[in-house]
Amino acid sequence: MNQELWNEVDEFLANLLFPADPVLEAALRESEAAGLPPINVSPNQGMLLQMLARMRGARAILEIGTLGGYSTIWLARALPADGRLITLEFNPKHAAVARDNIVRAGLAALVEVRVGDAVESLSRLRTEGAGPFDLIFLDADKRSYPLYLKEALHLSASGTIIVADNIVRGGGVIDSAGADPGDQGARRFLELLASEPRLTATAIQTVGIKGYDGLAIAVVKY
Ligand code: SAH
Ligand code: DHB
Ligand code: MG
Repeated sequence: MNQELWNEVDEFLANLLFPADPVLEAALRESEAAGLPPINVSPNQGMLLQMLARMRGARAILEIGTLGGYSTIWLARALPADGRLITLEFNPKHAAVARDNIVRAGLAALVEVRVGDAVESLSRLRTEGAGPFDLIFLDADKRSYPLYLKEALHLSASGTIIVADNIVRGGGVIDSAGADPGDQGARRFLELLASEPRLTATAIQTVGIKGYDGLAIAVVKY
């Protein structure tokens, strides 16, 4: 483990590959000023999310876990002018910070922040007949990832990409005896991915400014 080196390399890659973005940097500054925890995706991860959405030609995106809207902005920028992103957030203060950041990013017309427990918001989306979404990003409380995946599948169609953040958790995911609800949630989520015949899935371990963690990426079969 060499967190300092991971930080330097992560920053080297991001600085080399894409220009600094004042709107995204302002979103992080405002989030920090409002006292939100610094648990947003990294710039390189944000770009990966945006590229996946672009590769899919996404017109409808669902995000579970908004925080200050940092990943939301990365994702929404992949949308066409008539695209739509719905992002679900439990904490009204986080949602308020996110809305300001999304307005500042010029994305208010494309993005809807829904406040409430994501499990309830997801079942409401289903009864509203929302979706199918082209890309769904799971990044809220890890203990509920298995539930989120089940709901996500109801809001999916052939070709939908499902991405889940934080599925390695410093290696905690293989601690089967451990009682950490986040570790268990990540593990059950991966087991559910594996058992779902409609999904093709992989998971990649990552190091960088977010420490040692990983991303799962799944696609609904054609
Ligand atoms: N995607 C964001 C980070 C999300 S952090 C980014 O990368 O910028 C996780 C967020 O999920 C927090 O804001 C937290 O308040 C929210 N959250 C936790 N439990 C939740 C729940 N049950 N329903 C909805 N949101 C929840
Ligand atoms: C936490 C949540 C995240 O989504 C993340 O990427 C890192 C940390 C957390 O709850 O601590
Ligand atoms: Mg995360």
